Amino acid sequence: MGDGADPVPDTADVMFVLRRRTATAHTRLESVLQLTGHDLSVSRYRDVLMRMHGFYDLLEPRLDAMLGVPGSPVPDWPSRRKTPLLRRDLAVLGVAEATLAALPRPKVPAVPDVAAAMGVLYVFEGATLGGRFIVEQVASTEVPAAATAFFGSYGDEVGRRWSQLRHALRVWSGADEARVAACADTAEALFGALEVEFSR
Ligand code: HEM
Repeated sequence: MGDGADPVPDTADVMFVLRRRTATAHTRLESVLQLTGHDLSVSRYRDVLMRMHGFYDLLEPRLDAMLGVPGSPVPDWPSRRKTPLLRRDLAVLGVAEATLAALPRPKVPAVPDVAAAMGVLYVFEGATLGGRFIVEQVASTEVPAAATAFFGSYGDEVGRRWSQLRHALRVWSGADEARVAACADTAEALFGALEVEFSR
Protein backbone atom coordinates (compact mmCIF):
# COMPACT_ATOMS: atom_id res chain seq x y z
CA MET A 1 0.00 0.00 0.00
CA GLY A 2 1.11 3.55 -0.62
CA ASP A 3 1.58 5.96 2.25
CA GLY A 4 -1.14 8.34 3.39
CA ALA A 5 -0.17 11.01 0.86
CA ASP A 6 -0.57 8.63 -2.06
CA PRO A 7 -4.13 8.76 -3.40
CA VAL A 8 -3.73 5.46 -5.28
CA PRO A 9 -2.93 2.41 -3.14
CA ASP A 10 -0.33 0.13 -4.72
CA THR A 11 -2.89 -2.67 -5.00
CA ALA A 12 -4.78 -0.51 -7.50
CA ASP A 13 -1.77 0.31 -9.70
CA VAL A 14 -1.98 -2.15 -12.52
CA MET A 15 1.71 -2.03 -13.49
CA PHE A 16 2.85 -2.47 -9.91
CA VAL A 17 0.54 -5.43 -9.35
CA LEU A 18 1.33 -7.10 -12.68
CA ARG A 19 5.05 -6.91 -12.05
CA ARG A 20 4.77 -8.06 -8.45
CA ARG A 21 2.54 -11.01 -9.31
CA THR A 22 4.69 -12.23 -12.22
CA ALA A 23 8.28 -11.34 -11.29
CA THR A 24 9.33 -14.73 -9.92
CA ALA A 25 7.55 -16.57 -12.73
CA HIS A 26 9.42 -14.34 -15.21
CA THR A 27 12.76 -15.24 -13.68
CA ARG A 28 11.89 -18.95 -13.83
CA LEU A 29 10.73 -18.65 -17.44
CA GLU A 30 13.97 -16.92 -18.44
CA SER A 31 15.93 -19.81 -17.02
CA VAL A 32 13.85 -22.62 -18.56
CA LEU A 33 13.95 -20.91 -21.97
CA GLN A 34 17.74 -21.35 -22.14
CA LEU A 35 18.07 -18.74 -24.85
CA THR A 36 21.03 -16.91 -23.45
CA GLY A 37 24.48 -18.36 -23.92
CA HIS A 38 26.88 -18.57 -26.83
CA ASP A 39 26.16 -22.27 -27.30
CA LEU A 40 22.52 -21.68 -28.29
CA SER A 41 21.82 -24.05 -31.17
CA VAL A 42 19.64 -23.34 -34.17
CA SER A 43 17.48 -26.33 -33.26
CA ARG A 44 16.89 -25.08 -29.70
CA TYR A 45 16.02 -21.60 -31.00
CA ARG A 46 13.66 -23.08 -33.61
CA ASP A 47 12.01 -25.24 -30.96
CA VAL A 48 11.41 -22.20 -28.71
CA LEU A 49 9.86 -20.23 -31.57
CA MET A 50 7.61 -23.17 -32.52
CA ARG A 51 6.31 -23.43 -28.97
CA MET A 52 5.90 -19.64 -28.71
CA HIS A 53 3.96 -19.72 -31.95
CA GLY A 54 1.45 -22.11 -30.34
CA PHE A 55 0.66 -19.53 -27.65
CA TYR A 56 0.40 -16.50 -29.93
CA ASP A 57 -1.55 -18.36 -32.61
CA LEU A 58 -4.16 -19.47 -30.06
CA LEU A 59 -4.39 -16.26 -28.08
CA GLU A 60 -4.08 -13.47 -30.65
CA PRO A 61 -7.48 -14.26 -32.24
CA ARG A 62 -8.94 -13.94 -28.74
CA LEU A 63 -7.25 -10.57 -28.36
CA ASP A 64 -8.71 -9.60 -31.75
CA ALA A 65 -12.17 -10.36 -30.36
CA MET A 66 -11.62 -8.34 -27.17
CA LEU A 67 -9.35 -5.51 -28.34
CA GLY A 68 -9.90 -5.20 -32.08
CA VAL A 69 -13.23 -3.47 -31.59
CA PRO A 70 -14.43 0.15 -31.61
CA GLY A 71 -13.65 1.81 -28.28
CA SER A 72 -10.84 -0.67 -27.57
CA PRO A 73 -8.59 0.30 -24.65
CA VAL A 74 -5.66 -0.51 -26.97
CA PRO A 75 -6.57 1.08 -30.32
CA ASP A 76 -3.22 0.11 -31.84
CA TRP A 77 -3.72 -3.58 -30.97
CA PRO A 78 -3.70 -4.81 -34.62
CA SER A 79 -0.16 -3.46 -35.09
CA ARG A 80 0.98 -5.48 -32.06
CA ARG A 81 0.21 -8.94 -33.46
CA LYS A 82 3.29 -11.18 -33.39
CA THR A 83 2.05 -14.36 -35.10
CA PRO A 84 3.13 -13.10 -38.58
CA LEU A 85 6.63 -12.38 -37.23
CA LEU A 86 6.89 -15.84 -35.69
CA ARG A 87 5.77 -17.43 -38.97
CA ARG A 88 8.34 -15.39 -40.89
CA ASP A 89 11.18 -16.43 -38.55
CA LEU A 90 10.08 -20.05 -38.66
CA ALA A 91 9.96 -19.98 -42.47
CA VAL A 92 13.58 -18.73 -42.47
CA LEU A 93 14.41 -21.67 -40.21
CA GLY A 94 12.76 -24.10 -42.62
CA VAL A 95 9.54 -24.81 -40.72
CA ALA A 96 6.55 -25.23 -43.04
CA GLU A 97 3.11 -23.86 -42.14
CA ALA A 98 1.73 -27.42 -42.30
CA THR A 99 4.26 -28.51 -39.65
CA LEU A 100 3.12 -25.68 -37.37
CA ALA A 101 -0.54 -26.52 -37.87
CA ALA A 102 0.11 -30.15 -36.88
CA LEU A 103 1.82 -29.33 -33.55
CA PRO A 104 0.05 -30.05 -30.27
CA ARG A 105 -1.57 -26.90 -28.89
CA PRO A 106 -0.44 -25.62 -25.49
CA LYS A 107 -2.93 -25.15 -22.65
CA VAL A 108 -3.68 -21.44 -22.41
CA PRO A 109 -5.79 -19.36 -20.03
CA ALA A 110 -9.33 -18.46 -21.10
CA VAL A 111 -9.84 -14.91 -22.41
CA PRO A 112 -13.52 -14.26 -21.72
CA ASP A 113 -13.24 -10.50 -21.20
CA VAL A 114 -11.13 -7.38 -21.67
CA ALA A 115 -9.42 -7.82 -18.28
CA ALA A 116 -8.07 -11.21 -19.34
CA ALA A 117 -7.06 -9.80 -22.74
CA MET A 118 -5.11 -7.02 -21.03
CA GLY A 119 -3.31 -9.60 -18.88
CA VAL A 120 -2.29 -11.59 -21.97
CA LEU A 121 -1.18 -8.44 -23.75
CA TYR A 122 1.02 -7.43 -20.81
CA VAL A 123 2.85 -10.77 -21.01
CA PHE A 124 3.16 -10.78 -24.80
CA GLU A 125 4.33 -7.19 -25.01
CA GLY A 126 6.73 -7.60 -22.09
CA ALA A 127 8.44 -10.31 -24.13
CA THR A 128 9.62 -7.58 -26.54
CA LEU A 129 11.71 -6.09 -23.71
CA GLY A 130 13.58 -9.33 -23.09
CA GLY A 131 13.62 -9.81 -26.86
CA ARG A 132 16.19 -7.04 -27.25
CA PHE A 133 18.69 -9.02 -25.16
CA ILE A 134 17.87 -12.25 -26.95
CA VAL A 135 18.57 -10.66 -30.35
CA GLU A 136 21.96 -9.48 -29.05
CA GLN A 137 22.76 -12.96 -27.72
CA VAL A 138 21.68 -14.67 -30.90
CA ALA A 139 24.05 -12.49 -32.93
CA SER A 140 27.01 -14.50 -31.62
CA THR A 141 25.47 -17.89 -32.48
CA GLU A 142 24.66 -19.86 -35.64
CA VAL A 143 21.08 -18.55 -35.66
CA PRO A 144 20.54 -16.41 -38.79
CA ALA A 145 19.83 -12.73 -38.07
CA ALA A 146 16.94 -12.98 -40.55
CA ALA A 147 15.15 -15.23 -38.04
CA THR A 148 14.91 -12.61 -35.28
CA ALA A 149 11.82 -10.65 -36.38
CA PHE A 150 9.80 -11.87 -33.38
CA PHE A 151 12.35 -11.14 -30.64
CA GLY A 152 13.34 -7.96 -32.46
CA SER A 153 9.74 -6.68 -32.56
CA TYR A 154 9.46 -2.90 -32.92
CA GLY A 155 13.23 -2.36 -33.30
CA ASP A 156 14.12 1.06 -31.89
CA GLU A 157 10.47 1.67 -31.06
CA VAL A 158 10.38 -0.92 -28.28
CA GLY A 159 10.51 1.63 -25.46
CA ARG A 160 7.86 3.82 -27.00
CA ARG A 161 5.47 0.91 -27.66
CA TRP A 162 5.94 -0.34 -24.09
CA SER A 163 5.23 3.13 -22.62
CA GLN A 164 2.08 3.36 -24.71
CA LEU A 165 0.94 -0.01 -23.45
CA ARG A 166 1.64 0.91 -19.82
CA HIS A 167 -0.42 4.05 -20.33
CA ALA A 168 -3.27 2.10 -21.93
CA LEU A 169 -3.27 -0.42 -19.07
CA ARG A 170 -3.39 2.36 -16.49
CA VAL A 171 -6.17 4.28 -18.24
CA TRP A 172 -8.23 1.11 -18.72
CA SER A 173 -7.81 -0.11 -15.14
CA GLY A 174 -8.35 3.26 -13.45
CA ALA A 175 -8.03 2.57 -9.74
CA ASP A 176 -10.36 -0.40 -9.94
CA GLU A 177 -8.82 -3.14 -7.81
CA ALA A 178 -11.15 -5.82 -9.19
CA ARG A 179 -10.05 -5.07 -12.77
CA VAL A 180 -6.41 -5.02 -11.74
CA ALA A 181 -6.77 -8.36 -9.94
CA ALA A 182 -8.58 -9.99 -12.88
CA CYS A 183 -5.91 -8.79 -15.33
CA ALA A 184 -3.10 -10.02 -13.06
CA ASP A 185 -4.82 -13.42 -12.60
CA THR A 186 -4.60 -14.02 -16.35
CA ALA A 187 -1.04 -12.70 -16.67
CA GLU A 188 0.03 -15.03 -13.87
CA ALA A 189 -1.82 -17.97 -15.43
CA LEU A 190 -0.16 -17.31 -18.79
CA PHE A 191 3.32 -17.18 -17.26
CA GLY A 192 2.44 -20.49 -15.56
CA ALA A 193 1.35 -22.02 -18.87
CA LEU A 194 4.55 -20.83 -20.60
CA GLU A 195 6.66 -22.26 -17.83
CA VAL A 196 4.89 -25.64 -18.10
CA GLU A 197 5.39 -25.68 -21.88
CA PHE A 198 9.06 -24.70 -21.78
CA SER A 199 9.90 -27.07 -18.93
CA ARG A 200 8.86 -30.08 -21.00
C1 HEM B 1 15.63 -15.21 -21.93
C2 HEM B 1 14.48 -14.61 -22.07
C3 HEM B 1 14.14 -13.27 -21.46
C4 HEM B 1 14.94 -12.29 -20.96
C5 HEM B 1 16.46 -12.24 -20.90
C6 HEM B 1 14.07 -11.24 -20.47
C7 HEM B 1 14.50 -10.07 -19.92
C8 HEM B 1 13.69 -9.03 -19.54
C9 HEM B 1 14.14 -7.74 -19.07
C10 HEM B 1 15.61 -7.33 -18.96
C11 HEM B 1 13.05 -7.01 -18.78
C12 HEM B 1 13.02 -5.58 -18.23
C13 HEM B 1 13.19 -4.61 -19.35
C14 HEM B 1 12.96 -3.16 -18.92
O1 HEM B 1 12.47 -2.91 -17.81
O2 HEM B 1 13.28 -2.28 -19.74
C15 HEM B 1 11.91 -7.82 -19.05
C16 HEM B 1 10.61 -7.43 -18.83
C17 HEM B 1 9.52 -8.22 -19.09
N1 HEM B 1 9.52 -9.46 -19.70
FE1 HEM B 1 11.13 -10.55 -20.11
N2 HEM B 1 12.77 -11.59 -20.69
C18 HEM B 1 12.78 -12.81 -21.30
C19 HEM B 1 11.70 -13.52 -21.74
C20 HEM B 1 10.40 -13.13 -21.57
C21 HEM B 1 9.26 -13.85 -22.06
C22 HEM B 1 9.33 -15.13 -22.91
C23 HEM B 1 8.15 -13.17 -21.66
C24 HEM B 1 6.71 -13.46 -21.91
C25 HEM B 1 6.24 -14.26 -22.87
C26 HEM B 1 8.60 -12.00 -20.91
C27 HEM B 1 7.78 -11.06 -20.34
C28 HEM B 1 8.21 -9.90 -19.76
C29 HEM B 1 7.33 -8.91 -19.15
C30 HEM B 1 5.81 -9.00 -19.01
C31 HEM B 1 8.15 -7.85 -18.74
C32 HEM B 1 7.71 -6.56 -18.10
C33 HEM B 1 7.93 -6.55 -16.59
C34 HEM B 1 7.42 -5.22 -15.99
O3 HEM B 1 6.24 -5.14 -15.67
O4 HEM B 1 8.22 -4.30 -15.92
N3 HEM B 1 9.97 -12.01 -20.89
N4 HEM B 1 12.32 -9.04 -19.51
